[in-house]
Amino acid sequence: MKSFLIAGNWKMNMLREATRNLIDGINTGLEGLNLDNVQILICPTFTSLGLAQKLTNNSPLSLGAQNMHFEEKGAYTGEISPKMLIDSGCEYVILGHSERRQYFGEDNELLTKKIASAFVNNLIPVFCIGETLQERENNVTFKVLEYQLSLLSDFTTDELKTLVIAYEPIWAIGTGLTASEEQIYEVHSWIANYLQNKFGVTIKILYGGSLNEKNAKEILSTEFVSGGLIGGASLDAEKFLSIIQTAISIK
Ligand code: PGA
Repeated sequence: MKSFLIAGNWKMNMLREATRNLIDGINTGLEGLNLDNVQILICPTFTSLGLAQKLTNNSPLSLGAQNMHFEEKGAYTGEISPKMLIDSGCEYVILGHSERRQYFGEDNELLTKKIASAFVNNLIPVFCIGETLQERENNVTFKVLEYQLSLLSDFTTDELKTLVIAYEPIWAIGTGLTASEEQIYEVHSWIANYLQNKFGVTIKILYGGSLNEKNAKEILSTEFVSGGLIGGASLDAEKFLSIIQTAISIK
């Protein structure tokens, strides 16, 4: 049976009241569903984590953050540490999202420290990789992915077994464009082979980039796709639930 991780990346959206409504809506929709083959993760903004922790306490929803600093505490004004995320109920943390790479200059060196810190603190990293449109057009997609994945050689097999990869072609994020089934299969099978050959691990590889309730069936059914990292469509309880139901239906 295929098992999925369906993850919502809320980005910089949702005040506390909207957070409450959205989580209540998802929780209600999940009642009575058989989630044997689906794990669900939501990643609200930092200021909503405390509230989200309360609302997900007795629900199947896992909680994650969208970023973190690698140090556990100290003089890093404005930053949030892994210990703080654990304290707020997080089990997961998204690291290396393309928006963080693009707008905040996150690179392999910094991401190595963040992933190391996540492992030490028992947070599961959802490590995002992906190419720009220009890189795809220049036929360097696999070179780019290989470089982004190369930092994993710093970690042990046991650590890597807990990692989740999210393949997010940057040109498909928030654009309404999705990669075709062939493109997704090509990249996901390449990543799966790379991880197996180089590190001996078989781990979850999520697809991200305009995944929604309409294309979920095709994308999630694709071999080597073990879930989705969903932005826009995760902000709407009905759409998010519909994606979850699609995952449940794929056995
Ligand atoms: P999107 O975002 O679903 O809105 O394209 C995905 C992501 O950036 O994780």
